[in-house]
Amino acid sequence: MVLTEAKNEINRVFSFYRLGDSSGIMKVRARAKRNSLPMKSSRIPGFYKLSLAERLARLADTYDLSVSEVEALRSQGSLTLAQADKMIENAVGIYSLPIGLGMNFLINGKDYLIPMAIEEPSVVASASHVAKLVREAGGFQAESTERDMIGQIQVVGCPDWGVACEALLDAEERLLAAANAVHPKMVERGGGARRMSVRLLNDDEGARYQQMLILNLIVDTRDAMGANTVNTMVEALAPTVEELTGGKVYLRILSNYTDGCLARARCVIPPALLRAGEFEGEAVRDGILCAQAFAASDRYRAVTHNKGVMNGIDAVVIATGNDWRAIEAAAHAHACRDGVYGPMTQWFKDDAGNLVGELELPMPVGTVGGSIGLHPMAQIAHKFLRVQSARELAEVVVCVGLAQNLGALKALATDGIQKGHMALHARAVAMTAGADGELIDRIAQELVKSNEIKVSKALELLAQHR
Ligand code: MEV
Repeated sequence: MVLTEAKNEINRVFSFYRLGDSSGIMKVRARAKRNSLPMKSSRIPGFYKLSLAERLARLADTYDLSVSEVEALRSQGSLTLAQADKMIENAVGIYSLPIGLGMNFLINGKDYLIPMAIEEPSVVASASHVAKLVREAGGFQAESTERDMIGQIQVVGCPDWGVACEALLDAEERLLAAANAVHPKMVERGGGARRMSVRLLNDDEGARYQQMLILNLIVDTRDAMGANTVNTMVEALAPTVEELTGGKVYLRILSNYTDGCLARARCVIPPALLRAGEFEGEAVRDGILCAQAFAASDRYRAVTHNKGVMNGIDAVVIATGNDWRAIEAAAHAHACRDGVYGPMTQWFKDDAGNLVGELELPMPVGTVGGSIGLHPMAQIAHKFLRVQSARELAEVVVCVGLAQNLGALKALATDGIQKGHMALHARAVAMTAGADGELIDRIAQELVKSNEIKVSKALELLAQHR
């Protein structure tokens, strides 16, 4: 029944557009045809002005979504209780979040429509606004390293620490082969255990804790985040490690500080593009540089600065079915890799006066494995993103983080963030009062001007307009 309703709604919206409209959608299609572009541009002017049904219809068309995928987008909890029951223990319900689309992203010359799962207003709008601006400056550049995950084995009580270390290093080939034997599929996909290192902790006289040896196993997990793979490998190696060292193994677990799996984003923006209302571009740039200096020298500000970065990163990581706690943990560890907690992003001015932004973070996201194959929404998110590999996804994620940070700093360096929040809130209030089409923006503007952003005021204004 609901499915039929969804289909009908989509058909209604499609036929509306096919009959010829002035909303720009037909024009976008025609232009795309002319330029022989695949209809997958992330630049869809006025997308936010379409109704929810129109947006879904637009996406269904562009991204070849099946009726069941559209239905998953329409329903509040696309995960069923039965699926939830397979994912965790004692499942009793489903917690859902809105999914919005970050628009306008041009990364390494490729267009991306970015699914973002987040409850906070303004985040998606701000990312899209900044992506448009960066797009006009040529887009984001991104790159990533190999994906080296680390599994750790803790050994205590070795009779001779030097002999234990040597025994492990001498047996490296045997240990790597044993690790790969428990995951032959990973090796078939071109990944697997690559190398290892050993390290003695608390080796000095009078150490507070007992001495121990740590074996780090480096594993390439290809397109999976690979936590299970790494954990299975280190657990499988434990008996051999005990035999070789004469010690006792305690912890066998991956490290979430994945600094062998980094992604980097960069953008260069001429000041003219930063102009905002009465604020000249140079003034906005200098305000952003001032905000950067604040975050670099004050950890109270650095944490908030980084929270803004993670607004964008977590939203994409959650939408794509990845482990956002792992990403958060690694990101904050990276932010204090030099011993002092600092801003994750770097903003500076180049010789030509352009604003340059950079972000490097560990980004062990996956495109396969974990809950990605189980969660219908995560699958749709991957369909929108059209990334070919986990490395490509990692590159997209850091670009969103950089965009999100710039959005926050730009607002903070000019009008403050409340103005944008209020404008968005006013739109929502106008729609709740029943405004549609062009009236939404008009009523929203009048609400902001009246300083009374309430449904009752919106109803009053609507009555005047009608
Ligand atoms: C709010 O979620 C994020 C900001 O506080 C980030 C920042 O201050 O840079 C706006």
